[in-house]
Amino acid sequence: MLKIIIMILDKNGKHTHVSQYSYLGKSLLPIRKNSVMIEMRVICFQNDIFMQNTIIINQNRYHILQKPLFDNLSMKVRKTIMNLHIFQNQQELNEAGAGIITSLVQMQPKAVLGLATGGTPVGIYEELVKAYDKGRVSFKSVTTFNLDEYVGLPVDHPESYHAYMQQHLFAHIDLPAAAAHIPNGNSADLDAECERYNQLLEEAKQIDLQILGLGHNGHIGFNEPDHSLISGTHRVELKAETREANARYFNSINEVPSHALTMGVGTILKAKTILLIVRGADKAEIVHRALTGPITTEIPATLLQTHPHLVVLLDAEAGRFFE
Ligand code: PGA
Repeated sequence: MLKIIIMILDKNGKHTHVSQYSYLGKSLLPIRKNSVMIEMRVICFQNDIFMQNTIIINQNRYHILQKPLFDNLSMKVRKTIMNLHIFQNQQELNEAGAGIITSLVQMQPKAVLGLATGGTPVGIYEELVKAYDKGRVSFKSVTTFNLDEYVGLPVDHPESYHAYMQQHLFAHIDLPAAAAHIPNGNSADLDAECERYNQLLEEAKQIDLQILGLGHNGHIGFNEPDHSLISGTHRVELKAETREANARYFNSINEVPSHALTMGVGTILKAKTILLIVRGADKAEIVHRALTGPITTEIPATLLQTHPHLVVLLDAEAGRFFE
């Protein structure tokens, strides 16, 4: 049987709709009155085999609803829609991650990369710098967009993501400064800054490869668990668990900013390919839930299950709940 799941997401997030149909016909758009359809996502399964994932986006902002969608799909089905690799040591994982990025840039010198910060990608950036030093790759025509930045942390603060990117990558490669984009968490007008970032992303059309880490609470970027998620770049209040996790980089938790600007899940999901990297036993359970559990905005990373080109790199500890 052909099963079709349609999520209809509206502009202000107040009216959202999910329907399941056994057949895709022409009249399958039960849009509520007064709601503007801005995204339709069609996910088809035939005999539990993933067939197609079509995304139509007419505008930039929407919410994705919380309702779990895929309770009844087996693990086997989910495996068919993702490309998951488990590595026995960190170096192998780093080389694999950097290899995916360098291959893309070699084939597509003008690639648009979505970059992540945090502890997870550090080793991958080290390998990228080595590849650059050996002359195997150049970033001179690449464009980058970082996922997020703290609000109110000066860019030269060592824990700002501006400083992180300089330290781990930008200072060591030939990426032009003007091609590296990071949200400005010090803007006097944060809403305008989010709009500016969305505009830049729109001009870039599509991120070719989005690198993602995973928060202990299932966040991606700084899209924290919530009853709905926002599509575009927005200001977010960080959850206590996120501030606690990041306190290791600051003198105390009180120094961890309470807010951040983050790319939204819509932008992340629009990327051509998503590279999710997860390390450590403390994330084994959440990455398993993210990739095999019900899709819900309460675990933002579960939305990655709907992406047609998801590549997952796990170390052995993080991958222990996968066969
Ligand atoms: P980490 O953070 O890489 O520092 O563990 C990941 C995240 O919170 O997205």
